[in-house]
Amino acid sequence: MQIQKHIRTTALAMGMLALGLGSVANTYAAPSSNVAWTSETRNLLKNADLANGEKIAKKCSKCHGEDGTDPTALEEEDTPFTAGQVAHATYKQIIDYQDGTRDDKNMRKKVKKLSKQDVADVSAYYATQALPMPSVDPSTVTPEAIRMVTRGDGTRFLPPCAGCHGPNGEGAIVDVPALAGQSASYFVTTMLAFREDERENDIYRRMRFIARMLTEEEIEAVANYYASVGTGTKLLVFESDEDAEEEPAAPMEPAAPEAPAAPPS
Ligand code: HEC
Ligand code: HEC
Repeated sequence: MQIQKHIRTTALAMGMLALGLGSVANTYAAPSSNVAWTSETRNLLKNADLANGEKIAKKCSKCHGEDGTDPTALEEEDTPFTAGQVAHATYKQIIDYQDGTRDDKNMRKKVKKLSKQDVADVSAYYATQALPMPSVDPSTVTPEAIRMVTRGDGTRFLPPCAGCHGPNGEGAIVDVPALAGQSASYFVTTMLAFREDERENDIYRRMRFIARMLTEEEIEAVANYYASVGTGTKLLVFESDEDAEEEPAAPMEPAAPEAPAAPPS
């Protein structure tokens, strides 16, 4: 009985995924980003000029802070921390702002004059900064939030956030952003933007699928979780020359909600 139920559930999940992807293909033929991880692009980051990156970051500090984590700059605005962010993730976001794939007039204006190498330089500079410090008290984190991050929810095919964003919220090369220490208000704003299709630059709609499965309360709870796991330390640097030689990874498979979370062990 159990097995049959599991098979039925899995079939249903596959069906839903196929439906989802089908409608993506029909409705959203336009690419959700023009960034391709060719070796040329990766080399821009590998050979980044950190001193130039720091110079550019100064022009951004009014909102993002000197090193990307000034909390006073963030009180009034839904402005993300950029410090400690995976360089490739930052690079992708800035290019997406430049060509309008990520729609924010303000940010577009701020970055429109930057060359590709400038974008790589400032992205790499931010990546060398420490992740933000925790900005909320860990005792306010709910068990439900921890479960969503670490196990997901098999009953609605929600994959665990940590499966992509890393066990410590450190993100991953190529384009999965770090979430550790991220401003909770920005986190909620951008998740709601994914949910409402106002932010549509996520490749394969992965984050739009996921955001849609969560209630606003759940989004707030997970934002609170990640704001509490800031580290003030470096977790991930940009690619160094040593690990650079392999070919660029293909963009990740559509990892949308295909698999129920592992049963408790
Ligand atoms: C006037 C304030 C302001 C200035 C100046 C500014 N930004 Fe931003 N930045 C924002 C806001 C607000 C957002 C969130 C916009 C959104 O929701 O898409 C943002 C988003 C970003 C993101 C996306 C981060 C993420 O986690 O997705 C990056 C990267 C970024 N900015 C880099 C820069 C750089 C580089 C500069 C300077 C060249 C800069 N910003 C200047 C306010 C600013
Ligand atoms: C299948 C992999 C995957 C899973 C699972 C996943 N994410 Fe993401 N997430 C991504 C990728 C890739 C991006 C970058 C999207 C883009 O390019 O704009 C992202 C972006 C985000 C952002 C925006 C970060 C920023 O700086 O702008 C937030 C917030 C986020 N994810 C939260 C979550 C939460 C919460 C969960 C779990 C409920 C989750 N993610 C699960 C892959 C994933």
